[in-house]
Amino acid sequence: MGRLIAISNRTAADPSARAGGLAVAVWESLKSSGGVWFGWSGDIAERQSRSVQSLKDDGVEFVLTDLTEREHDQYYLQYANSVLWPVFHYRLDLAAFNSDAFQVYAAVNQRIANIVTERLRDGDTVWVHDYHFLLMGDSMRRAGWDGPIGFFLHIPFPPPEVFRALPEHQWIARAMCNYSVIGLQSEQDRSNFTRYLIEDCKAVDRGDGVYEAFNTTIKIEAYPIGIDAEGFAEAAKTEKAKEASDRIGRFLGGRNLVIGVDRMDYSKGLPERFEAVGRMFDDYPETRGSVSVTQIAPPSRSKVDEYRELRRTLDGLAGRINGDYGDLDWIPLRYLARSYDREELAGLFRIARVGLVTPLRDGMNLVCKEFVMAQDEADPGVLILSEFAGAAEQLKDALLVNPHDTRKLAEVIQHALTMPLEERVERWKSLRETVVEQDIAWWRKKFLKDLTALQDTR
Ligand code: G6P
Repeated sequence: MGRLIAISNRTAADPSARAGGLAVAVWESLKSSGGVWFGWSGDIAERQSRSVQSLKDDGVEFVLTDLTEREHDQYYLQYANSVLWPVFHYRLDLAAFNSDAFQVYAAVNQRIANIVTERLRDGDTVWVHDYHFLLMGDSMRRAGWDGPIGFFLHIPFPPPEVFRALPEHQWIARAMCNYSVIGLQSEQDRSNFTRYLIEDCKAVDRGDGVYEAFNTTIKIEAYPIGIDAEGFAEAAKTEKAKEASDRIGRFLGGRNLVIGVDRMDYSKGLPERFEAVGRMFDDYPETRGSVSVTQIAPPSRSKVDEYRELRRTLDGLAGRINGDYGDLDWIPLRYLARSYDREELAGLFRIARVGLVTPLRDGMNLVCKEFVMAQDEADPGVLILSEFAGAAEQLKDALLVNPHDTRKLAEVIQHALTMPLEERVERWKSLRETVVEQDIAWWRKKFLKDLTALQDTR
């Protein structure tokens, strides 16, 4: 195989960013084959001084471009994060449709496609990531690249009835048909996307995940992304992990810990989760004073109104719950709007009795897989997982919940807190087996096998 070329809006050029799902996955893939990673530098610059920088780290080359203020606003904040993000998470009510922003989004895709294509060599394998670059395949064809291009969508793909609300849906779908392989997180996403192609683009299903549309063939499959499973299990046993669990242990004073860790995003179901916690203290008085819920929620995209609004909602809810239930020596719900590093989180997961992962909609969700890997095999905690996370298709032995049903969620948390050791061990073993088997290397190999098979037949 030639060089692997990755393209994503955020890259792991900053070593501290190598902990998240996309970053770890792409970093691992590029390191093993040697390659180039194209994306945004993270900086905003004037058009005249906007640079394309190249840097090398551990055999991986990064080629990064700044965004202008206008690009950052219209491509990133508006079209990617105020139109595509809500629509793809089934939230038409939050979408701020904006056709001017779409023009800038298309122009950024084309500008980056030109930067990439100029630097490509024959035999390179191109792998594009996520909703920022839905048009990249088409833009690269315009720039003259005719080799295979893979695309992986890290977020959900909505049902056709929702996708059609996007004024640019036809343009986007047609552009996406320039990809040779399209990877989605779950069967649900795969079925939504292929149903749209069949109903709106006259696509023909040739079997084995191959579809014909717009005079081309595309392989469309679900490739559920995994984590560096063994690496995370190791992280939970480090000194730093132990320090973090000791610190929270001093605060807990023997109480049971229920933990949640999510980017502060409206797709994560945090207000519903807080409501359910309040309900639990109401409906199950034995949990008062004996359970502490800690929610870690690093703020995200705070220039977008909906995210600011969410912050206010959570501040209010947490204040109310602690005001209503807290006592001199007990804080029922701790909500920390900051981030912790991978080893610290692993340490916190390890001593938690319950992991709460209840998004309203999530492409995959990797926190649930990390929670599983961090557990102590002799005394594992219980995973509560939303049925609307892509991971629910794999992690059937979690306690699956509907995050909108806060009364039931309260009951399930209480059930998890009282689950006998034997059942906890049994469920955990089965979850662990899946997370280890379908880890990050499994995902990368599965996708690249399909992509490079096309390269070999050229
Ligand atoms: C999600 C997306 C990623 C994105 C990340 C952080 O996981 O799938 O593409 O990088 O959120 O969001 P941000 O807007 O800060 O890059």
